[in-house]
Amino acid sequence: MVLKQKNLADEAATRALGAALAPVLRQGDVIRLEGDLGAGKSTLARALIAALTGVEGAPSPTFTLVETYDGPDFPLWHFDLYRLEAPDDVWELGLEEALDGAATLIEWPGRIEGLLPPGALTVRLQADGAERRVVFEGDESWKARLEAAGIA
Ligand SMILES: Nc1ncnc2c1ncn2[C@@H]1O[C@H](COP(=O)(O)OP(=O)(O)OP(=O)(O)O)[C@@H](O)[C@H]1O
Ligand SMILES: [Mg+2]
Repeated sequence: MVLKQKNLADEAATRALGAALAPVLRQGDVIRLEGDLGAGKSTLARALIAALTGVEGAPSPTFTLVETYDGPDFPLWHFDLYRLEAPDDVWELGLEEALDGAATLIEWPGRIEGLLPPGALTVRLQADGAERRVVFEGDESWKARLEAAGIA
């Protein structure tokens, strides 16, 4: 279900959103980062990674397809599946370990449609002129957590 839509007037707003999600993220969570090329998925992920792990300027996993980080309570895995050739290749990247013990951010989750467990938060970024719009989709748990994060 759609939980919230909002405008992101500039890159700083996208970064603020990523940082705001960090305190409500839990082990086992999956955040699907959807949107076209250049929509702001990595910008949001980078800010979330910085807020949770202290790592600034995290690289986009454009070619490595996945980067992993140590958080205070659980690891954080960041996938970019744009260049994934076949859905099942994602298991070789360690998706199972990520789903079991980490929190997982996934750019281009449509590449592995059907392989992800239910319960993910979808964050869909769309260009709106020079700005962006963001749409959140998720369950009641995510609704409560977006409220706790001051987003909804
Ligand atoms: N709210 C915003 N308004 C305007 N520009 C933005 C906004 N958020 C991010 N940007 C800009 O949009 C670009 C987004 O690049 P980014 O790498 O984050 O996109 P992406 O969705 O990860 O793309 P890809 O699919 O290629 O990985 C950056 O130049 C960033 O500065
Ligand atoms: Mg990206």
